[in-house]
Amino acid sequence: MSIKEFKTTAFSDQKPGTSGLRKRVKVFQGEHYTENFVQAILDAMPNGGKGSTLVIGGDGRYWARETVQTIFKIGAAVGVKKFIVGQDSILSTPAASNIIRKYKTDGGILLTASHNPGGPNADFGIKFNTSNGGPAPESVTNKIFEITKTLKSYKMLDAGTLDITKIGSFKYGPVDVEIIDSVKDYVEIMETIFDFPLISKFVSSTPEFTILFDGLHGVTGPYGRAIFVDTLKLSEDVLQNCIPLQDFGGGHPDPNLTYAHDLVAAVEKKQIVFGAASDGDGDRNMIYGAGAFVTPSDSVAVIADWADSIPYFKKGGVHGVARSMPTSKAIDAVGKAHGWEFFEVPTGWKFFGNLMDAGRLSICGEESFGTGSDHVREKDGVWAIVAWLNILAAANQGKSKLVTIKEILLDHYKKYGRNFFSRYDYEEVSSEGANALIDNLDKLFASPNFKGSKYKASSSDASFDVSDVYNFTYTDPIDGSVSKNQGHVITFSDGSRVVFRLSGTGSHGATVRMYIEKYSKNESEYGNSAADGLKPLIEVALEITQLKKFLGRDEPTVIT
Ligand code: G6P
Ligand code: ZN
Repeated sequence: MSIKEFKTTAFSDQKPGTSGLRKRVKVFQGEHYTENFVQAILDAMPNGGKGSTLVIGGDGRYWARETVQTIFKIGAAVGVKKFIVGQDSILSTPAASNIIRKYKTDGGILLTASHNPGGPNADFGIKFNTSNGGPAPESVTNKIFEITKTLKSYKMLDAGTLDITKIGSFKYGPVDVEIIDSVKDYVEIMETIFDFPLISKFVSSTPEFTILFDGLHGVTGPYGRAIFVDTLKLSEDVLQNCIPLQDFGGGHPDPNLTYAHDLVAAVEKKQIVFGAASDGDGDRNMIYGAGAFVTPSDSVAVIADWADSIPYFKKGGVHGVARSMPTSKAIDAVGKAHGWEFFEVPTGWKFFGNLMDAGRLSICGEESFGTGSDHVREKDGVWAIVAWLNILAAANQGKSKLVTIKEILLDHYKKYGRNFFSRYDYEEVSSEGANALIDNLDKLFASPNFKGSKYKASSSDASFDVSDVYNFTYTDPIDGSVSKNQGHVITFSDGSRVVFRLSGTGSHGATVRMYIEKYSKNESEYGNSAADGLKPLIEVALEITQLKKFLGRDEPTVIT
């Protein structure tokens, strides 16, 4: 078999975003486009692609299977020693992270655009994870980007297609290829983390504790089945949309109140006690029981507070907690109460990796429906869902009346106060409008009168005094690297804050996110909806920034 060289036209738009390169499938299908990026990854790998062992997996979306073959061809030409591939290209993102770590490989290539829609007219993505199992740090993604812009040619082994639907050991030219069960190793690690005997006893002896898991036709269907049906012996009825589809059934596989409407509707209709969903590639989660939506910011705080009920933490301890900057401060209070070290990092799971590797971070989360721990180096949707099951099983021990999600939340608020939180997304607005909004924020932040100014809400008497303004900069405590421009923050004298940032995960146009948070220690407010609790602050935030004018939008695309 010979190696052939192909001339490529260097591309200027292959800069990996928050989570790898995401573009329309049609763009990836362009001549040399996918090949150019794959070659750049293999050239930019910290110890080089030659002689390496790499994991390949993803959410099984359209264009993944073709890309696996492209990686085989280019990898063989570079001299990769071995590929470990999820059967039929399937590995959820946390499962891939686990495989990278468990088999001590040099990293992995994940074929996913996460929660973005899939199919021939939607999105595809390629992401590189390093040997710790986490998303590549900026030093590596910058190197990938530099190479994509200057590459003149790529090389491919002139070989055919390898059938990746059968588990087993194969050869692709000189390269060893192992096709593995997508789910097995993942279930094994979950069993070492959680108290499955306790959960099992609870769910089997409490028929009123009804469950519904929605895979949104993404990758977690088989993982949900393995845990709920095969391990916990629940009936098939607890699964919804659990057959992975290359286009996610035309849906938007993002577990939030807007896109997981099937779950929300079914939970409310049947008054299901425990509902949960995960995204396209299985790293996000939403916990939603009848009448009780758990915001991701609250979710991580509750999990941390209940860590002792989870064997992994009971045994190993909790070594630090963290959140991304825009995530509500609910977990800060939990960390403080337990005496744990606490970190605030920029948006992007990769920022947690160094802290975990240094043994200083055990539990963390982001408002963007990501929750996880140091068991892998990605956020983990199914992990978060089982964590909640474990907590509910523990909370119900010895109780004669069912303790629900709502009660767990109310108890939490009574202990720590409530951080009302919401996010407004303005998706696919013009880049000009988004940049003008940010430029205006810069001007406001620089004006001497802004700090200390007072703003009144339009629909009530509430008013807010601006106490501080800054553009968030993060210095990684482990390697000292500095990340600037991570979001514009306005804080108010009552402890409320509003944050603005541009999304780093969109595939075209710009997406502006506005995060609103208000803390309350007033017990009579704990039962309020976030929308009610935050209304005055939202009015003020929109007025200060003149957001509607700059973006030309009256309403956000999505509210979470
Ligand atoms: C991905 C990343 C997360 C991040 C989220 C939102 O899911 O893994 O870490 O929080 O995207 O990013 P964005 O830049 O779109 O707000
Ligand atoms: Zn995802």
